[in-house]
Amino acid sequence: MKPAPHTGLALDFLGATECAAIAASRWIGKGNGKAADKAAVDAMRKVFNKIDFSGEIIIGEGAKDEAPELFVGEKLGTGRGAVVDIAVDPLECTDSVAYGRPNALAVIATGPRGSLYKAFDGYMEKIAVGPEARDVVDFDMPVKTLIKKVAHTLGKEVKEVTVAVLDRPRHKNLVQHIRQAGARVRLFTDGDVAMAIAPCLPESPIDILLGIGGSTEAVLAAAALRCLGGEILCRWKPSDERQRAELQKLGARDAKKVFSARDLARSEYVAFTATGVIDGPLADGVVLEGGSIITHSVVISLRPRMLRFIKTKHLLKA
Ligand code: FBP
Repeated sequence: MKPAPHTGLALDFLGATECAAIAASRWIGKGNGKAADKAAVDAMRKVFNKIDFSGEIIIGEGAKDEAPELFVGEKLGTGRGAVVDIAVDPLECTDSVAYGRPNALAVIATGPRGSLYKAFDGYMEKIAVGPEARDVVDFDMPVKTLIKKVAHTLGKEVKEVTVAVLDRPRHKNLVQHIRQAGARVRLFTDGDVAMAIAPCLPESPIDILLGIGGSTEAVLAAAALRCLGGEILCRWKPSDERQRAELQKLGARDAKKVFSARDLARSEYVAFTATGVIDGPLADGVVLEGGSIITHSVVISLRPRMLRFIKTKHLLKA
């Protein structure tokens, strides 16, 4: 596979995530997730088509008949430049924006053509950890053992470990097991892209992400975790007939497989760009000032290995 200048692209995509985040932020707390999502999608797409690259959406807003823009299979960019796969979530955490809750982002992951796993929109069970613990986790061990092993690699006591879990009824037993193990639980309402990456971040209080969340979010997080040397292990957990049928189409191998970050983002030239809409572990949210707007973003790449935090002041008046 021919390497392409993805780091440059990840920086170019900053304009797309910034515009999407600003557009979505205007809908914070207004109870209208659809409008927030549409604003983010429209803004992101406009910027994409001014950038020199030849992209195809692998993870997007859905199939063409459900989503008029940024749908899976849509071609993006001017058609000149690097040939790449694109995974987008113009608004990760629609409900967080609609109801004014934390952890919303505009996100793009990219890599050479064929490098990102074509996940349909379903559920996956996930374990995400930072670089120290990447080789000690798997799905076969009890939660208590997993936490103990991670604690050991981090030089912590189990009671000092924090496990992030999506606050959902399906996680009732998981939360009980974490508590019984003696670790701390951080329940969050939405946003397991940021929470999966959090164990890799300096000064993050999160050590592990556990639980079932979106498969497309797993691919987005995997791109960042690959770059940062952490790990995300995932396996399909279909929750209804549609998801079971989609999984059947992928075949028995995928249905049973435990995917690692390397399986979901299969290149050393993957990169990740995100801008905060509302504050979360990865980025602060959009701040609207009198004559300007402040955005907080991250650009992450593996080659070169880089985690760049970018604060931008967008000046509205001359
Ligand atoms: P959206 O971007 O679709 O709003 O997803 C938010 C999210 O919390 C994801 O971060 C997570 O993977 C997924 O929803 C969990 O799905 P569910 O809300 O169905 O439990």
